[in-house]
Amino acid sequence: MSLKHYLQFTDLTADEYAYLFERAALIKKKFKTYEKHQTLTDRTLAMIFEKASTRTRVSFEAGMYQLGGSVVHLTTGDSQLGRAEPIEDSARVISRMVDLVMIRTYEQTKIERFAEYSRVPVINGLTNEYHPCQILADIFTFIEHRGSIRGKTVAWVGDGNNMANTWLQAAELLGFTVHVSTPNGYEIDQAVAGVSDSCYKVFKDPMQACAGADLVTTDVWTSMGYEAENEARKKAFADWCVDADMMRAAKPDALFMHCLPAHRGEEVEAEVIDGPQSVVWDEAENRLHVQKALMEYLLLGRL
Ligand code: CP
Ligand code: NVA
Repeated sequence: MSLKHYLQFTDLTADEYAYLFERAALIKKKFKTYEKHQTLTDRTLAMIFEKASTRTRVSFEAGMYQLGGSVVHLTTGDSQLGRAEPIEDSARVISRMVDLVMIRTYEQTKIERFAEYSRVPVINGLTNEYHPCQILADIFTFIEHRGSIRGKTVAWVGDGNNMANTWLQAAELLGFTVHVSTPNGYEIDQAVAGVSDSCYKVFKDPMQACAGADLVTTDVWTSMGYEAENEARKKAFADWCVDADMMRAAKPDALFMHCLPAHRGEEVEAEVIDGPQSVVWDEAENRLHVQKALMEYLLLGRL
């Protein structure tokens, strides 16, 4: 099998996503019935974290063990990565010893450089620009609850960040539309998302973005790495809090999603995230199942 990385959502085709969603459903069913599914016995995943994580760490680590493999956990502080060993050298060394690498870091260019020198598949576990594993889980969650996402409308309320960029990439690839509302100065950079105009529409008023949506989603006002902007962002984002009125503007059966961690009272009201339309816990759990399908696919192809 030729070397395949997962650095952006656009690295797989719609057909490959259809396979992954089917496979993730099977893997999830087996997990729920305590049936073993060990397709990656004796394989090793290196996880490199340059930013904090709960869900990504637990889902990749537990997932790899459940598949029969093992993991190595590295951070900037406890490896030579924090002492300026070149990324290219780190990639060459680490990829000689493991079968798969997952990286959470800052600039996308870092993970691209790592991938260029890696002998094994590299997975993006979040960069400043993208978060493909999360959107993989989110779309799988949407399908579980509502069926195909093709032709649907997703409302994005908040920062034009890594999650927003990846939603746009998914919309273009899988045929749905994103209604985006961001405060002035925090717009999506279409060049970073790398999409055409047709997959999204911009609304000044978040309420209008939510009107008629099948799914309303948001994220923290301040992403990791942007903490110095926290106070300015709190002021700018004050009107971009998903509340019950915004959910009422959406379709009556609209879902609410948030990649988590969440700040109740900032980007979302507690009654929304803890309310009946919220599927945030399914979203989090599904990271486990979709990433098991992804790791298996990158190493073994279709089974
Ligand atoms: N959603 C997500 O990636 O969570 P963590 O930062 O906890 O990994
Ligand atoms: N946009 C957030 C997502 C966290 C999972 C961040 O990058 O910090």
